[in-house]
Amino acid sequence: MGERKKVLVARQVFPEVVEALRARFEVEHNDEDRPWPPEELARRLRGVDGLLSSVMDRVDETVLAGGDRLTVVSNIAVGTNNIDIPACTKRGVKVTNTPGVLDDTTADLTWALLMAAARRIAEGDALVRRGGWDIAFRMQDRLGADVHHATLGIIGMGRIGQAIAKRAGGFDMRVLYHNRNRLPEADEKRLNATLVDRDRLLAESDFVVVMVPYSPAVHHLIGAAEIAKMKPTAILVNTARGGVVDDAALVAALRERRIAGAGLDVFEGEPKVNPGYLDLPNAVLTPHVGSATRATRLRMCETAVANLVAALEGRVPPNLVNRELA
Ligand code: DGY
Repeated sequence: MGERKKVLVARQVFPEVVEALRARFEVEHNDEDRPWPPEELARRLRGVDGLLSSVMDRVDETVLAGGDRLTVVSNIAVGTNNIDIPACTKRGVKVTNTPGVLDDTTADLTWALLMAAARRIAEGDALVRRGGWDIAFRMQDRLGADVHHATLGIIGMGRIGQAIAKRAGGFDMRVLYHNRNRLPEADEKRLNATLVDRDRLLAESDFVVVMVPYSPAVHHLIGAAEIAKMKPTAILVNTARGGVVDDAALVAALRERRIAGAGLDVFEGEPKVNPGYLDLPNAVLTPHVGSATRATRLRMCETAVANLVAALEGRVPPNLVNRELA
């Protein structure tokens, strides 16, 4: 039997996942679960064949410089914007992701934020906790927005966008979408969704959801000019990636009530959050938990392990991102 390959797991994962890896490989696991700074990650990569990374691990030139034997970076995420893919490709390092297994869970969280912002759940929760609910029913108190029969605009109609649209059926909503490609007619029918240009979507939607993968081409896709096209009663939801929305522009718009509210799971420069959001009652904030259920996180880990094993056994991983290395 030849020498066992070495795998580095950059963040803590489920014990059963580590066990499965240990059955095949020599494994170093980040038990502490403290993100390793790039220099430390680079140092730990020496002699490692495969890296299991999370969205918080930047895999760039600095890190790759340490990977003298590295052949695969298996990201436990569908997004890969934490990884310098051209740099990996140049070095022959395969990059894989975990598409498909988190669509419904992320769509659920998108709806949770949409509804929380619409019905001012976080504000109400804080009010009850601080004993400020002195008069039980004021006719004009805590008024929110109706979700049912409203118009939902989805920018980015991939798998997760479609899962979000599907849920709108239960609320009798009209669904507009903006996407590079038109969906097949049968899908449009099933989702009751109409393809429109971005300006029309922004102008007519009561809820605007962005669901595009991050790339420099969509940096600040929603900025001051786009927000200015939205209704003053509209709510913006971002569960895609920080940087797709211009946080400074959104903070200013929310503060001046140019739109009614926002539900945000992702931020520019995570784990930092624009401090402007923190005292805004009309912003509902969660810490990038779109995929955070046990079942889904476990499926993501299992998918990432399957990708890693395939690459280390010389097979084409099922979810290879840099396809030119197939
Ligand atoms: C992803 O998979 O890209 C998510 O954002 C991480 O939970």
